[in-house]
Amino acid sequence: MIKMVKVLGILGSPRKGKSNDTLLDAALEKIKEDADIEKIYLVDYNIIPCNGCDTCVKKMECPLDKNDDMKQLRDKLLDADAIIIASPSYFGGPPGILKNFMDRSRPLKMAGHKLKNKVFGFISSSGLRYGAQHEVISALMNFALIHGGIVVGAAGKVIEPNYAIGSFQGDKIKEFRKSSEDEIGLKTSELLASHVIEIAKRIC
Ligand SMILES: Cc1cc2nc3c(=O)[nH]c(=O)nc-3n(C[C@H](O)[C@H](O)[C@H](O)COP(=O)(O)O)c2cc1C
Repeated sequence: MIKMVKVLGILGSPRKGKSNDTLLDAALEKIKEDADIEKIYLVDYNIIPCNGCDTCVKKMECPLDKNDDMKQLRDKLLDADAIIIASPSYFGGPPGILKNFMDRSRPLKMAGHKLKNKVFGFISSSGLRYGAQHEVISALMNFALIHGGIVVGAAGKVIEPNYAIGSFQGDKIKEFRKSSEDEIGLKTSELLASHVIEIAKRIC
């Protein structure tokens, strides 16, 4: 029997139903026939910020786990074959809730790169057309690479962008549109998801 690839979609924006949620939905919709999909909203979970105690380095566990939901979230990462994260640019980085999630994933690395060979893909939509989405994706790529993951991008036709990037602002300064009208954001999110599945199937 062919194993169904498990994909975890993570909304890193604190806002449900907005641009990153729309693009993440487009990505997950594209692969719904090929994958066993779970989508989570980080805003639904309590994630205490890492305080740098380094217990995870010594004992491979986190003392904060007993007071929040991070153990449950790490289990979801472990269970997935592929992970797609959508994040806005907040001053060129991920929002606090997503950064807290990234930092608190450290015990998985310290326990022996438990996320090694998981396939990662990233989407970033922001207010401005050039609102440092690439920097957000770079930060997420580093997160995945440091965990030992495999990072893939949107690989479409020659003229299609290689990163899944969207914005509320269109090509003109005063042109703002809904994310459901963001042709490049939607298309590149779909391409990204297809690529994630293609690679995850080869690995699983
Ligand atoms: C604290 C904060 C910082 C932001 N910084 C930027 C920024 O540097 N560049 C940008 O284009 N948009 C910035 N924005 C706007 C968000 O990226 C924009 O609202 C985005 O669509 C949010 O994603 P969402 O619709 O999925 O929630 C910022 C918003 C907030 C709340």
